[in-house]
Amino acid sequence: MPWRDELAAQHEARKRDQLWRRRSVVSGPQSVEVSVDGQQFVNFCSNDYLGLANHPDVIAAAVAAIRQRGTGSGASHLICGHSDDHQQVEHQIAEFIGAEKAILFSTGYMANLAIPQTFLGHDDMILLDRLNHASLIDGGRYCEAKMKRYAHCDSDAVEKLLGDSEARRTLVSTDGVFSMDGTVAPVKKLKTICDQHDSVLVVDDAHGFGVMGDCGKGTLEDAQLNAAGNVLMVGTLGKSAGSFGAFVAGDAIYIETLIQFARTYIYTTALPPSVVAATGAAIKIIASQPERQEKLNANIAQFRSAIMDSDLQLCDSSTPIQPILFGSAEATIQASEFLKRNGVWVSAIRPPTVPVGSARLRITLSSDHTSQQIAKLTGLLTSDEMNKIAIIS
Ligand SMILES: Cc1ncc(COP(=O)(O)O)c(C=O)c1O
Repeated sequence: MPWRDELAAQHEARKRDQLWRRRSVVSGPQSVEVSVDGQQFVNFCSNDYLGLANHPDVIAAAVAAIRQRGTGSGASHLICGHSDDHQQVEHQIAEFIGAEKAILFSTGYMANLAIPQTFLGHDDMILLDRLNHASLIDGGRYCEAKMKRYAHCDSDAVEKLLGDSEARRTLVSTDGVFSMDGTVAPVKKLKTICDQHDSVLVVDDAHGFGVMGDCGKGTLEDAQLNAAGNVLMVGTLGKSAGSFGAFVAGDAIYIETLIQFARTYIYTTALPPSVVAATGAAIKIIASQPERQEKLNANIAQFRSAIMDSDLQLCDSSTPIQPILFGSAEATIQASEFLKRNGVWVSAIRPPTVPVGSARLRITLSSDHTSQQIAKLTGLLTSDEMNKIAIIS
């Protein structure tokens, strides 16, 4: 079949299965109220959990950095792209989360490719939670080690795989907070198992950094652990920090190895200094304004108590990610469109992002949502119209 016809057939199949993706065009800043394709919505699909993407201090830091340093970093970190902003924010991150050292990556995706590629070879193994983010799975796919997946949050399965393994070294890799489910990984148990088997635990805390733990340091803090010893933490900066990029934090020996050998660190342009300055300002706010986390937790509690007694399949999540399962892609789209008609934006998450038969509305809450906005959402979710959609799914 000619190449173009093959692609067209692929598109048709995706459309037929209700899986065709469209990009909504957002105007104005990222906020709990957004203008999409010219219409106003209350936004419940952003990962800007603490409302920092449009915070005046974060904007001011980015603008000041642009004025002082221009727009681009000019080169990769090992050439001349590593500015004093990068150096300072790496120290700031390490200090905030209590790690020996941190390294900035241009994206979380790149950080998650870097770790297995750098630390694992042919005789090694990587274990991944079945519901891990695509970037962690791709990290496992593109490295030389043998990759195995274990059932979601099943630490017994990890123990068995490690016990049966003849691999030279093993890395266990998990989301901290699972991006499409809101569940929290059993990091304490995983760490104990990794200790017993001389393995390294990688916690990708893209959705936990800034919001989990007493001080917002993330899932490790929540479990009274540190990014130290055999634990490495990945944090992304485009979510609760409202900025862009990512970091890996842990003992200096690991971070130095990444600087020396990580291909997705070495062979790419460093983040622009303005983005790094924005991150620095955002982390200052996270560290000094626990009231944002408190408000977020109050919003989560309001949302859950309003939905809990309905017939909707609300996932068991204490985090800002509050998915409602519909199962079929068609019903999930109908639910999302019903909300949109009523001025509320919640994205429909469908396969292949989630397993077939588990399409869902992924509701994300922010500390900036008002109680009235949450009441509007829960009112629509528990309405008769929504009930009808849920029943046919
Ligand atoms: C769990 C998780 N890890 C990594 C990433 C990738 O991070 P980035 O957007 O910085 O590439 C994401 C989402 O973007 C994510 O949800």
